[in-house]
Order: sequence, then structure tokens, then C-alpha cells
Amino acid sequence: MKILFIGSRLYDDVDYYVKRKGIESILTESNSDAINLDLPDQVFIVPRGMEGPKEIAITQNVDAIVPLIGIDPPLIQVAHMKEEIEEEYGIPVIAANVRAVELTSDKIKTKEFYTDINVSTPHYQILNCPEDLTLDFPVVLKQAEGQGGKDIKVAESIEDVNDYFEVFNQALCEKFIEGSEISIEVLGFNGEYVALPPIYKGETTIEGTHPLNKVKMGPCLVDGLDNNLIQETAYKIAKNLDSDGIFEMDFMYCPGEDQLYAIEVNTRPNGTRYLTTATCGINSLCELINMACCEFSLNDVFNRLEYYYSTEIPIGTYEGPKINEPLKSFDNNDFIVHGPEGYQRITIRAKSKQDLEKLVDKLT
Ligand SMILES: Nc1ncnc2c1ncn2[C@@H]1O[C@H](COP(=O)(O)OP(=O)(O)O)[C@@H](O)[C@H]1O
Ligand SMILES: [Mg+2]
Repeated sequence: MKILFIGSRLYDDVDYYVKRKGIESILTESNSDAINLDLPDQVFIVPRGMEGPKEIAITQNVDAIVPLIGIDPPLIQVAHMKEEIEEEYGIPVIAANVRAVELTSDKIKTKEFYTDINVSTPHYQILNCPEDLTLDFPVVLKQAEGQGGKDIKVAESIEDVNDYFEVFNQALCEKFIEGSEISIEVLGFNGEYVALPPIYKGETTIEGTHPLNKVKMGPCLVDGLDNNLIQETAYKIAKNLDSDGIFEMDFMYCPGEDQLYAIEVNTRPNGTRYLTTATCGINSLCELINMACCEFSLNDVFNRLEYYYSTEIPIGTYEGPKINEPLKSFDNNDFIVHGPEGYQRITIRAKSKQDLEKLVDKLT
């Protein structure tokens, strides 16, 4: 089995798994100074874009392509490459297709999609000027594209909206939801979908603090909210997206209204994955490789499900006890550390809430 991986930045997360499965690894990367270039069997530095990877895949005669791209902008090029290379060469590309990327990479299109498939999403309007606003404050102002909280502002008054329009000339304006933020990863391949356990990412704040900077927990345990409802809704969204790979979905639950709202979908490796793996033992990046090897099935995922309590805490720079190899896996660890120095996070798991508290005290 010979797999082409596109992008090296996340490759250290799967290196141990690729080696364990005896897969021959080829990797393309556009930045010759990037990390992890010493790990795969063969590396090709190619220009940005998908022409380089496509050519390497064909000339090296690979069995499958697994893009490991954790940012939004290249996803549409990957999707076009997928459709071309699958049709012309029959090489499977484990990634979202063009329709799924188009629907999910634009927050306005995503909201229209939710409405089409009858999934609740916060009330919204497209503002072309502050005077058009009819929703009550507070509201959340967003741009159609962006990740990590980029270009997002919670407005409490018309002055805040005016300030936003100093910078932008249009906004997706959404009702502010007071409540819990939840993410869930769904895996999809060949028409089969599995919704993994939902993760709790903290409460929304009027400052608009992004979940990246909060303490998170798995599984999600929110009073009044049934995890089956989250999983069923996520499954329904994935089925309607009708595509392959990882879907990370953001939801909000408003206890005052007892309403679950869908916020967004990311069709790529994402920040929820460490907590998902800690909580249930399934690692979405490794599952991409299983898909490439035709070894992915619902049954197999269900049979491997584990049950843990877990948490993820921003720690800056880790200075605790030694972590066992493989460093990014829970195989030989109760905790793993990830992220660049200064912005690291620790993900910790245990069989009971009590044990988890003890371990957190010891490690942080
Ligand atoms: N309708 C909303 N109500 C309350 N908070 C929100 C709302 N929309 C977004 N936020 C806050 O902003 C963050 C980022 O919004 P999101 O739409 O997920 O964009 P991004 O792609 O940047 O993650 C959310 O995780 C949440 O903390
Ligand atoms: Mg988000």
C-alpha cells in the first residue's frame, strides 16, 4: 500500500500509524522549511496548489491520496483535484467533494443548507449597512469565510455595528446564543457515516472568546441536552453533505429555549480531534488512512469504541513528566501534548471523573 499525503504540518500525528500498518509513505509539501519532513519515506517539495501533488500521485503510482490540510483556503482546490483524479485515474482521494466544500466553506451558504434540510440554526440576516439591522442585541457579526474566530465580533449596540462596518461592507449578522458550545466529529466514507461522541467546548461569552482559548471536555455533559440529539443531527447533516472524510461540526445549545443550533461545518482535520480520540479511542486522522486502505466500516469503528472522561487545557509550554512514544497517541499515554510551543494544549483522559480530576491536578 502506497499513500500520498499532502501537507506535512499534521503528519507527526499519523506517522506511527502509517509505520505500524507498513504503508509506504510519500508526502508533498510546498514549504521546504516545514516540520516533519524527516518522517515519511519520500518527500517532494512542490509549488503551492494541487498540480504538484497530482503529478506525483500519477508518476509514483500511489494507491490513494490523503490530504492532511488543517486550514480552509486550499480545500476547494483539493476537492477539484479529487474529482479529476478519481474520474481520470481511479485514485481515491480521502477528502470532501466540491459540493460539500462549497456548502461548508461559506457560512451564509451553510446556513441556507441547514434551512433546506430542516436543521435549526440561529436567526440571521445579511447586512449591507448597519441601518438594515432588525435583530435584537446582542448579535454576532461574521464574514462568510474565516476560521479561529477571525473577523467575528459580538455587537451589543449600533455603535459596535458601525465600528464593524468601518472595516467590512457586508456582514452575516446572527442572533447571539447564550449557552454551551459543542463540537462533534463525523466520519464519512462511501455513503457510511458515523457520529463520534460530542465534545463540550465551554459557554458562549459576550466577548466572543473563541473555544480555542477555553477548557474543553469529552464527552459533552450538559444539563437538559441529550447527546443522541447532537449525534442524530450531526449524522443528518453529514448524510446530506454526501461526501467523504472528516466533518467537524459546531453546535450551540441554549438552555433557556431548550434548543440545539447548528453553527458550522469544517470538512478537514480539526482541533476537536484530540479530545475525540481521548474520549472514544477513535482518531479521525488514522481513520482517513483506514478509508484509504478500504478498511473503514461502521462496524469496525463501533467495535473499537472506548469510553473515557477527558479534558483539554491550554498550558502554553509543557514542562511535566515524559510522554511515551508514540507521543501523539493514547496507546501508551493517559495524556498527550500538542500545538506549537507557547500555545500548547494538554489532552488528558481517565476512566472516571475522579481519576481525571486527580490527573489534571498532577499535570497542570
Ligand atoms: N450566534 C452566536 N452566539 C454566540 N456566540 C457565537 C455565535 N456565533 C459565533 N459565536 C462565537 O464565535 C466563535 C466563532 O464562530 P464560528 O462561527 O464558529 O466561526 P469560526 O469559523 O471562526 O470558528 C464561536 O465558537 C463562538 O464562541
Ligand atoms: Mg467555529
